[in-house]
This record gives sequence, structure tokens and C-alpha cells, in this order.
Amino acid sequence: MTHPVIAIDGPAASGKGTLSRLIAKKLNYAHMDTGALYRAVAFEVLEAGGDPENEEDALKGVNSLTQKIESGDPASPDFVLHNAALRGDDMAVAASKVASQGEARKRLVTLQRRFARNPGEGYEGAVLDGRDIGTVICPEADVKLYVIADIEVRAERRMKELQSKGIQATSGTVLEDMRARDERDKERKASPLKPAEDAVMVDTSQLSESEVLEKALEIIQEKLSGPT
Ligand code: DC
Repeated sequence: MTHPVIAIDGPAASGKGTLSRLIAKKLNYAHMDTGALYRAVAFEVLEAGGDPENEEDALKGVNSLTQKIESGDPASPDFVLHNAALRGDDMAVAASKVASQGEARKRLVTLQRRFARNPGEGYEGAVLDGRDIGTVICPEADVKLYVIADIEVRAERRMKELQSKGIQATSGTVLEDMRARDERDKERKASPLKPAEDAVMVDTSQLSESEVLEKALEIIQEKLSGPT
């Protein structure tokens, strides 16, 4: 690859999405939120009246999503991934169920790798965020960050995010859903959430968005300038 690729992984609401968007803007990189892919598959499954835990239904959802993406601009699948209906916690839970299935995951690999290889005209690199970017999708990424935060902090952030979108939720339910989702994402057999061996850990619990960005940019600069 001629351009840099940055892989950012971590659990729900750790701050990886915000950080990825800020990095992309600052460095003029294209950004792919791979969680939105799994949410979009879950959306297709639920729309068709299917069960996200059923393998056949999940595969139908993957096919339907990839057809939609393929019929648009393949270098920029963002147009189906910006659906506001994807952002609720119910869709996050369904996405985590779809994402625990190996065959469904396998079929989404090409799409993600193609984006990393070809972020699109005018961009200087690619940044992908998710759960398995540094370990499975882009093991050769130039920079790997693993973003974490205390679960209470993450639940609080998610509550605020949901409230800001006018989505009803109670803090107990959000915390419970997050615990269950963490466990499902970490314990699944297929590409479980875990840091790549060469990932740099970034704990965002006590940091503001700009402090996290500053820290990440330092790491990126160091990694991209190579060994001294
Ligand atoms: O990042 P998010 O909360 O939007 O992700 C929703 C779910 O999708 C998450 O619980 C696990 C799954 N996911 C995954 O398994 N692998 C990825 N690369 C991204 C998300």
C-alpha cells in the first residue's frame, strides 16, 4: 500500500469513533466506521423480519447490504451507513449478534480491505475503526491503536449520545446492554475483540476529546516516521 493505514479498535463508546473522525479530518484520511457495517446488516435482517442470531438470516442481511453498496460507489459505501436508524442501542445489540457469526464476518472482509487499499481520490490515507481491524482486517496497518475507557464512563457517554438524539434510555439498561455486548464481542470465536500485539493502548477515561486526539497524533507521527 502506498498510503498509510490506521487501525483503531476498542469496545463500545470507548471514544474510538470520535477519535477516528478527528484523525481523518486532521490528516485528510478517509474514514470507515466498520461498526456501522454490522449495524447496517442488523438493520437489513430486522427489516426482513429475520433473527440476528440465525446464521441464514444474517447471511441474507449481508447479501442485501453488499448489493446496496455495490450498486453505489464501491469506494465510498458511506451512503448506506449513515442511516440514523442504525444508531440506537437496539441496533447495536442486534449488530453484536450478527457480528458473532464467522461466515457473516468473512463476507464483510473484502469490503473493508478494499476500502483500506483504496480510500478514494484526494485522501492521503485510510483510518478504519472497529473490533478486529488491527488483528484481522488490516494486520499490516502502519499504526494500531486500542482505545479503552472504564465501563461506567462508556455507559455515561452512550446515555448522553442517545439523549442528544432524542432516543429514550435508562442508565441501568445502557450499562447492562454494554456489559452484555462487551462480553459477546470479546468471547466470540470469530475475530474476538482484543488488542493486536503491536497496538498502542489509549485510555480515554480521564481525557477530553482534544487530549485524546493530541495523544493519538503523537503516536501516529512517531509510528509513521519509522524507527529513529
Ligand atoms: O462500534 P459499534 O458499537 O457501532 O459496533 C456495533 C457492533 O458491531 C459491536 O457490538 C460489535 C460489532 N463489530 C464487530 O464485531 N467488528 C467490527 N469491526 C465492528 C463492529
